[in-house]
Amino acid sequence: MEKLKITGGKKISGTVEVSGSKNSTLPILASTILTNKKTVIKNIPLVRDVKTMIDLLSVIGSSIKFNKKEKKIEIFNKKKLKTFAPYYLLKTMRAGVLVLGPLLAKYGVAKVSLPGGCAIGTRPVDIHLKALEKMGAKIKIKNGYIIASAKKGLIGCKIKFPKISVGATENIIIAACLAKGKTKLINCAYEPEVKDLVEFLKKIGCKIKWVGLRSLDIEGVKKFKAASHEVVFDRIEAGTFIVASALTNGKLKIKNINHKIMSAEINSFKEMGLKILKKRKYIVVSHSKKIKSINISTKPYPGFPTDLQAQIMVLMTKANGVSTIKENVFENRFMHIPELRRMGAEIEIKGNTAKIFGNVKLNGAELTATDLRASACLVLAGLVATKKTIVHRIYHLDRGYEEIEKKLFKCGAKIKRLR
Ligand code: EPZ
Repeated sequence: MEKLKITGGKKISGTVEVSGSKNSTLPILASTILTNKKTVIKNIPLVRDVKTMIDLLSVIGSSIKFNKKEKKIEIFNKKKLKTFAPYYLLKTMRAGVLVLGPLLAKYGVAKVSLPGGCAIGTRPVDIHLKALEKMGAKIKIKNGYIIASAKKGLIGCKIKFPKISVGATENIIIAACLAKGKTKLINCAYEPEVKDLVEFLKKIGCKIKWVGLRSLDIEGVKKFKAASHEVVFDRIEAGTFIVASALTNGKLKIKNINHKIMSAEINSFKEMGLKILKKRKYIVVSHSKKIKSINISTKPYPGFPTDLQAQIMVLMTKANGVSTIKENVFENRFMHIPELRRMGAEIEIKGNTAKIFGNVKLNGAELTATDLRASACLVLAGLVATKKTIVHRIYHLDRGYEEIEKKLFKCGAKIKRLR
C-alpha cells in the first residue's frame, strides 16, 4: 500500500495552482443523468472520487469521454440509463447517493446502495429520503439498498429541510428539475459547490432561482440544452495550502481562486496573524511574527468549513497560547487527534470541542490516515515536524487531493510517495 515520506523543516514557498472542486464536480456529474444533450465539464480535479463517479455513470450507461490532460469530461446520454447504483462503487464514495434524485426523477424508479457511514460519522441520508417521499416517491430500504419508485413521476412541492445538508440540498435540487410543477426549497445549504451545481443546471436549461439566502424556486422542465461548464475552484485545497505555507514560515502564491468565497477561512487565518494579500485570481500568504491562538466553531457555509478543521488544528499547535475547535457538523471528526498526539501535540477533547495547546514541537512519526481531511492534516504535520514522517493509507488523501505531494514538492517540500 502506498505511503508518503516527509522530511520536515522545509519552507513551503513559491506558487501553487488550486484544482477544481471535488465537491462541486461530484453533484454536477450526477446531475448530467437528467439530460440527453451533450455536456462538457472543465477544470475537473484528477482525484479518485471523481474517477469513481465516472465509473458509476459509465456502469449505468452514460457515454463519457474523460480527457485527463485537458481535465475535461464530455458526457452524452444517448440511451436509457440503468437505474441501479451498486454497492461496490458507493462503498468508497458516499456522494454516489446523488444519482438517486436524478434517476428517480427521470425514470420513476431507482435502486441505489445505501451509503455506509465513514470515519467521521454515521452520515445518514434520511433528509434526502424524506424529501423525495414528500415529492411522491415510495421508498424502502432492503439489503442495504434504497429502493425508490415514483410511478407518476415526482411532483413539485414545498420542502423545508429540517437541518442544513449539502448532499440533501443537491439531491433534491436535481430531482426537482424534472419533477412535475414547482418546487420551493427552504433552509438549503448554499456552499459555493451548491451554487456551482445550480449554475450548471441553469446552463443545461433547468428553471432554478435563488429567492432567498437559503431558498430556491425550481420549475420542472422536459427539454435540455447542450452546455459546457467550468467547475469552481477547491476552497478546501486552497485552505490546506494556506496552512502549509504558514506552518513553515513560507511565502506562497495560491492561484486560480476567488478569495470572496473564502471569507470565513481567510478571516480566521488573519486573526491568527497570517498576512494574506488578496488579488482577483490569487492570494499571497506570508507569515508575520508569532502565530496567535484562536477559537474556531465549524458551521455550514458561510461559517468556517468542517473540511478545514483538521488542517487548521496543526497550525494551532504552533500558536502562542491555547486554541479551541468546536466541531458542530460531524459527530466524530477528531480522528486525526490521536495521530497528532503521537507526534507530541498536546490536545484535550471534551465532547465536540478540542483544546489545542500551542508552542508545541511536533516530532516525526509513522502515522495512519483515517479519512480524507485527516490525511491532509497528517501531511501538514509532517511538513513542520522534526526528522521524518511516514503517512500510511494515503488512498484517503488521493480521494480528494490532486497529486498533493507533487504540488508540495514544487513548493519546496521534501516529500515523496513510496509505492
Ligand atoms: C458534504 O457532505 C461534503 N461532501 C463533505 O465533504 C462536507 O464535509 C459536508 O458536505 C459538510 O460541508 C461532498 O460534497 C461530496 P451534509 P454531505 O449532508 O453532503 C447530517 C470532504 O471531506 N445529515 O451537509 O454528506 C450529516 O450526518 C467531505 O470533502 C443527516 O443527518 O454533508 C452531518 O452531520 C467530507 N441526514 C450533517 O447533516 C441527512 O440526510 C451535514 O451533512 C444528511 C446529512
